[in-house]
Amino acid sequence: MNFIELANKRYSVRSYSDKPVEKEKILRCVEAARLSPSACNSQPWHFIIVDDVELKNKVAKESFMALSNMNKFTLDAPVMIVLVIEKKNMSSNIGSFLKNKDFSLIDIGIAAEHFCLQAAEEGLGTCMLGWFNEKVVKKLLSIPKSKHIGLLISLGYPKDESFPDKKRKPIDDICSFNGYNK
Ligand SMILES: Cc1cc2nc3c(=O)[nH]c(=O)nc-3n(C[C@H](O)[C@H](O)[C@H](O)COP(=O)(O)O)c2cc1C
Repeated sequence: MNFIELANKRYSVRSYSDKPVEKEKILRCVEAARLSPSACNSQPWHFIIVDDVELKNKVAKESFMALSNMNKFTLDAPVMIVLVIEKKNMSSNIGSFLKNKDFSLIDIGIAAEHFCLQAAEEGLGTCMLGWFNEKVVKKLLSIPKSKHIGLLISLGYPKDESFPDKKRKPIDDICSFNGYNK
């Protein structure tokens, strides 16, 4: 599979089979994330793999949105990944302050995508989740109060083999050469 094929294949999987996910596959996804670039090579991330069924269900329930079906599919995912934002190193901290840009959020996003692309390569499905009750998830997993969770990622084998077409803006709308032209 070439890169564009892989990028097309990765989609937000919201329907999972109950087939368990092999530990070595999960660790290869973490390895792909570990290889991600980050500002000043700060690597401000920690991956918590939640595969204990009871605990995983408790974490999944904290991603639901009240009075809607949003994120209820996480209950079917056999694994939840919790991406904790670690402290930036000194250079990244200074850079973030001087440039008024929190580099760690960018770093976390890149690492999450590396994880998800490797998962797609392994035949696994993922969905990044920005909607969750951070306070309760931190308590469930003994994450110190001072830390933040960047994202949750549901992980498992997709129920369907096929993958949907991408809904994306046309390339001309998102790109211009030699100046902002929109
Ligand atoms: C930061 C971030 C947060 C997201 N949060 C959620 C979420 O809480 N629930 C959900 O179902 N999808 C969530 N998504 C998935 C997006 O809806 C999805 O990536 C987008 O619609 C594009 O579709 P695709 O991933 O299938 O290509 C999130 C994606 C990102 C990058």
